[in-house]
Amino acid sequence: MTVPTTPAGAAASTLGAAAAQSGRYFGAAISAGRLGDSQYTTIAGREFSMVTPENEMKMDATEPNRGQFNFANGDRVYNWAVQNGKRVRGHTLAWHSQQPGWMQSLSGSSLRQAMIDHINGVMAHYKGKIYAWDVVNEAYSDSGGGRRDSNLQRTGNDWIEVAFRTARAADPAAKLCYNDYNIDNWTWAKTQGVYNMVRDFKQRGVPIDCVGLQSHFNGNSPYNSNYRTTISSFAALGVDVQITELDIQGGSPQTYAAVTNDCLAVPRCAGITVWGVRDQDSWLGAGASPLLFNGANKKPAYDAVLNALNAAPPTPTPTPTPTPTPTPTPTPTPTPTPTPNPDGCTATITTTNSWPGGFQSTVTVQAGGAAISGWTVRWTWPGGQSISSLWNGQQSVSGSSVTVRNADYNGSIAAGGSTTFGFTANGTAATPTATCTSP
Ligand code: XIL
Repeated sequence: MTVPTTPAGAAASTLGAAAAQSGRYFGAAISAGRLGDSQYTTIAGREFSMVTPENEMKMDATEPNRGQFNFANGDRVYNWAVQNGKRVRGHTLAWHSQQPGWMQSLSGSSLRQAMIDHINGVMAHYKGKIYAWDVVNEAYSDSGGGRRDSNLQRTGNDWIEVAFRTARAADPAAKLCYNDYNIDNWTWAKTQGVYNMVRDFKQRGVPIDCVGLQSHFNGNSPYNSNYRTTISSFAALGVDVQITELDIQGGSPQTYAAVTNDCLAVPRCAGITVWGVRDQDSWLGAGASPLLFNGANKKPAYDAVLNALNAAPPTPTPTPTPTPTPTPTPTPTPTPTPTPNPDGCTATITTTNSWPGGFQSTVTVQAGGAAISGWTVRWTWPGGQSISSLWNGQQSVSGSSVTVRNADYNGSIAAGGSTTFGFTANGTAATPTATCTSP
């Protein structure tokens, strides 16, 4: 009698479908510049159920000039993914690398504010559309288990939790991940450093939902069989684990199978993303042979992964959607009910975060019974408040009177639809009644 290599029932024939049998995803990093290559899009369209933009949602790509956002390439990758039935991981909001020039030269409170503004600006654009965001990337040092020195780290050790709290307020539907490399081997100090941070965040109620193990394996950072312990240990803290940037120098099928099986062994290992489609697409160069395809051909590593996924027990593992952690607000601020205006627009201000001497608000602009092609929101501060930074709108201020007009890209709202803009302000949190007019 022969032993079947896959469980009863038809084996799935693509990575995405095979991973879905156990409630998981299988993704790839996708680059906007390759979407015109039909061999690339054919493979990627067929095989993967999750997409991470390889570079297009990084800080230098999305905010090339301070306060001026550019989502052209991010949207290209996003739209390709969604049109092909895939979900999207956002990568990445705060990182020491691939910062735009203007940010590299900032420091202190100005950089801290720029980071907050950046997170708000990018997350507002993709609000409700992203499965998980890598909120902070690579913040730990390669040795010793402490933080990596960077301009962001020098703004104060709390920069990571500020980034996560800002991200939760900006898009409560997205899972929020901390992502890093060389945190795969359980015995390494860097792994322990990140583990201790996540444990501390969970204990103190800092909003975090997932840890991304980049899992770039090579001779200096080889796969180790304690990887499963790393995954299950993070999961035991109450976060999902996602393998976010997998590539294996040399492309060993055995190692690819081991990584897959380690994820499958832990219910909260939600999915695997490989960092590119074909070897020729890899940031490591084709010579490293690190991925699952060689040109149009499936490599032995591909078969190893597919077989492992098909052999997994079909146990769907639903992971809870993140529950927004309420940020402590010193004085509760009642939300005014907007007066409906059948044909114009209404605006509602809500406080999303506050701290001694400052606060952050989101303003929802809603069209009435007809579509509008532009909007102007006005309010008056009751007690000397002043805006320190505003995104997704254009402000003009005169004394205590504030006027905000739509940005170039968010003036058009369908009948009954809405958009949001946001700001941080100095002073005591206030939610004045705002009026909205449309041309
Ligand atoms: C890499 C991209 O693949 C390259 O195209 C780019 O030149 C540099 O960045 N860790 C990360 C990824 O989090 O964003 C990096 O991606 C690879 C290492």
